[in-house]
Amino acid sequence: MGAQQVAERFTELYGTAPQGVWAAPGRVNLIGEHTDYNDGFVMPFALPHQVIAAVSGRDDGVVRLHSADVEDGVAELSLDALAPQSDREWTAYPAGVVWALRQAGHEVTGADIHLSSTVPTGAGLSSSAAVEVVIALALNDLYGLGLQRWQLARLCQRAENVYVGVPTGIMDQTASACCESGHALFLDTRDLSQQHIPFDLAAEGLRLLVVDTRVKHAHSGGEYGKRRAGCEKGAALLGVDALRDVPYAELDAALARLGDEEEVIRLVRHVVTEDHRVERVVGLLRSGEIRAIGPVLTEGHASLRDDFRVSCPELDLVVGTALANGALGARMTGGGFGGSAVVLAAATDVDTLTKAVEEAFAAAGFTTPRVFEAVPSPGARRVE
Ligand code: GLA
Repeated sequence: MGAQQVAERFTELYGTAPQGVWAAPGRVNLIGEHTDYNDGFVMPFALPHQVIAAVSGRDDGVVRLHSADVEDGVAELSLDALAPQSDREWTAYPAGVVWALRQAGHEVTGADIHLSSTVPTGAGLSSSAAVEVVIALALNDLYGLGLQRWQLARLCQRAENVYVGVPTGIMDQTASACCESGHALFLDTRDLSQQHIPFDLAAEGLRLLVVDTRVKHAHSGGEYGKRRAGCEKGAALLGVDALRDVPYAELDAALARLGDEEEVIRLVRHVVTEDHRVERVVGLLRSGEIRAIGPVLTEGHASLRDDFRVSCPELDLVVGTALANGALGARMTGGGFGGSAVVLAAATDVDTLTKAVEEAFAAAGFTTPRVFEAVPSPGARRVE
């Protein structure tokens, strides 16, 4: 659905035209998984799939919410009644952003909102972050708050952590808010410093495929929180603020100091090697060696599967089948436990490879995966 249609639907619902229309994308992460809550490095880029929101301000303390993707009427919430973890529906994401803005002292006095999304949900492609960011950007503009993109991302993360109650890092919100077309975002999650790295696959005759396994991941399920707590335990045992502070060159010595803490050892090894992999990929892209990132992506998958233990049979099957059919590299992307994988391949291999993955899924009795090509797209912006 385009901006025009979203605006028209808003007018039907609320009786007047919206003051503006904004869009924010989902993302895919190229490399740097489960590093963001360890103050480490990530490298996502924005997808063409996005959430479009038509929004108007109100001055009576009321927020009205409607989504084209949910079979529900208009939800009406009072600003005074917004309370963390009081809402288990989709409305918690936009309402959480309003709550976070007000908590931070910004004067937001209400809103009428209509949303429509093309970001697959539960696929590890940041559909929730896209909802949060589109609302934050719209309210920032409408209320003249003057917040910068990274500040909006922080507020959206707070909405998700505190209001919705899911302990995610800062990658997804920053990606949706800050990515640029044609580039991957090399983000230092400690200080949110950013470098936009040109990522032109087509020029090299390459493609990056996203394979959505259709296994719905669920972060609130507890496994994500357990990994996060394990990483924090590792940092505490090693006497550092965050695992980011363990240099790659000192990894073996650090692991030796962890004694028989087998689980913590695996988690620490993943995070420290993964940060290093992000730096390797950045170096390769800077020197124009795009093809050479393939094996680094594949190493990342092995680490997530064997050390961090967040993969699943469907993700492993995508990676194994892709590699057996000519892919240059493949890995799960996002939080894991389902969701999507990315596959780097020559453009000429895409059809064979897609067919092979579909056949392997059919043979294993898995639901047919959704495969699409990911092109680095623009971050959040006003569209009308
Ligand atoms: C989810 C979280 C992110 C990040 C990834 C794993 O997408 O929302 O903050 O931790 O998992 O890299």
